[in-house]
Amino acid sequence: MQLVWPAPEYLRSYCEALQRGWSPNNLQPQVAQEELAAIKNNPDAFFEQLVNFEGGGIGVKLPDGSVVPRLPGYRRWMWDGEFCGSIQLRWATGAALPDYCLGHIGYSVVPWKQRRGYATCALALLLREARSRGLPHVEITTSPDNAASQKVITANGGVLVEEFEKLASLGGGRELRFRVGL
Ligand SMILES: CC(C)(COP(=O)(O)OP(=O)(O)OC[C@H]1O[C@@H](n2cnc3c(N)ncnc32)[C@H](O)[C@@H]1OP(=O)(O)O)[C@@H](O)C(=O)NCCC(=O)NCCS
Repeated sequence: MQLVWPAPEYLRSYCEALQRGWSPNNLQPQVAQEELAAIKNNPDAFFEQLVNFEGGGIGVKLPDGSVVPRLPGYRRWMWDGEFCGSIQLRWATGAALPDYCLGHIGYSVVPWKQRRGYATCALALLLREARSRGLPHVEITTSPDNAASQKVITANGGVLVEEFEKLASLGGGRELRFRVGL
């Protein structure tokens, strides 16, 4: 498995994953259908919004429908000859993340390629990129009942910092915050 930049050559496999019901947004399954529509409408614009080193532009819609400013960040795709999942890095230049942003890194592996070590490997690769961007550490959050995600984080040196209550705009509920020093 390797991390690739989202590009037209991977798009057919990516769309198949969306059509099978996989969503790149763990909190919002409807994003699959929204992305299929966006790709059909304007594939170039779709690719552009996946990689945004400056931040800004179209805001980010939260689960309650509110829209918040887009942080700088980018998405990478996991690829093993087929699309396997996505992982994203975002940051707030010189500052802590705003409370509406659940961690610097989020990831999701398509169900039919889980338990092959892909998420653990993808996180290791992305941590290297975060280090080379000069971030001193990253925060990664996950729910207390997501044992797989917790294993992915701790296998990469993550240390539990706290349990907290998510904002109502993010759907509420308990969440664990891990920190990985870089
Ligand atoms: C969490 C997730 C990314 C893990 O992806 P993955 O590629 O299957 O993870 P890995 O293969 O690297 O497995 C990591 C560990 O979790 C374990 N694991 C994987 N799926 C599991 C499951 N469903 N139940 C229990 N353990 C599981 C693996 O056995 C492995 O443990 P080990 O190191 O002791 O062998 C994937 O389950 C997923 O996409 N879930 C939905 C989205 C999500 O929860 N994202 C994270 C949000 S913070």
